[in-house]
Amino acid sequence: MNILIIGGAGYIGSHQVKMMLDYHNNVIVLDNLNTGYQEMVDHKAKFIKGDIRDYDLVCSILKNENIDVVMHFAALSLVGVSMSQPSEYYDNNVVGMLNLLNCMKDCNVNKIVFSSTAAVYGEQTKMPIDEDALTNPTNPYGETKLAMEKMIKWFDEAYGIKYVTLRYFNVAGASFDSTLGELHNPETHLIPIILQVALNQREYLGVFGDDYDTNDGTCIRDYIHVEDLCMAHKLAVDYLFETNKSNYFNLGYGHGFSVMEMIEAARKVTSHAIPLKIEARRAGDPALLIASNDKAKKVLHWNPQYDDIELIINSAYQFYLKR
Ligand code: UFG
Repeated sequence: MNILIIGGAGYIGSHQVKMMLDYHNNVIVLDNLNTGYQEMVDHKAKFIKGDIRDYDLVCSILKNENIDVVMHFAALSLVGVSMSQPSEYYDNNVVGMLNLLNCMKDCNVNKIVFSSTAAVYGEQTKMPIDEDALTNPTNPYGETKLAMEKMIKWFDEAYGIKYVTLRYFNVAGASFDSTLGELHNPETHLIPIILQVALNQREYLGVFGDDYDTNDGTCIRDYIHVEDLCMAHKLAVDYLFETNKSNYFNLGYGHGFSVMEMIEAARKVTSHAIPLKIEARRAGDPALLIASNDKAKKVLHWNPQYDDIELIINSAYQFYLKR
């Protein structure tokens, strides 16, 4: 199969590239390298530097490479930054998606797996969150992803482009050979920041609020290992070819850990004291985000393997140690 992976030089995309190669696919990567790293792209994939908003380039790849399915990971994804720079988020994410779908329509490529997010749900009272929950994003990042989801739906109605949308909860960890992992600049995610403290690159972890309505007052998230997440994408491709139907799924393990529990787990993994300071709440953080994964298990036959928080943290730790 010929697969175009857009954003294949990023954290999740680079893991996906490796997995799809391992399943004997022909993989073409398109990435503008604004946030990705070319060194993370497996050399067996064909790498093309360019932007999802470039109509001529995307069309030429779809046609010349005879693409069967597109996997789309190329989005700006920092909630906090999206609050201050919504224009960039709409441009990269929504305009990018419009261009991609137009190219697919014009070049007769009619299958796509799309990376969406738990941020489309916003604040929810019922946990775990299932796919029928009403969407109500609380930040521009979530709004752009929801707009992209809706756009694909209408392109399916009108032009028959079939999609699987995957709504990620908190993706974490690194490849078990420690070659691929999470590198953001600036880093804002909890596990990489905790590990920077463990590696003495930061003095302490700032805990964003300890007065939430949770057991210990800190926010609870559903952390999912990146390899389990990528396996769900591989199954999504299989689903598209087997059924030719569109669908959407949550991806998480169905239970969560508080910030304090994450620190405690990281202390065990690293044997570092990991000092912390309680700071103000971060704007836009829901107290609790936990996925219901029943639908992905039932329909995609997804069977996650790495639901172990210390294993997840350790895989990330080994990646940073190696770098
Ligand atoms: N946190 C801290 N200190 C830090 C960093 C994070 O206390 O230095 C806390 C956050 O407040 C939050 C938890 O750790 O409660 C996890 O924060 P992350 O930034 O690691 O992840 P988010 O839950 O904010 O974001 C993730 C994805 C987004 C997605 C979002 C859905 O990274 O792409 O979930 O709400 F949109």
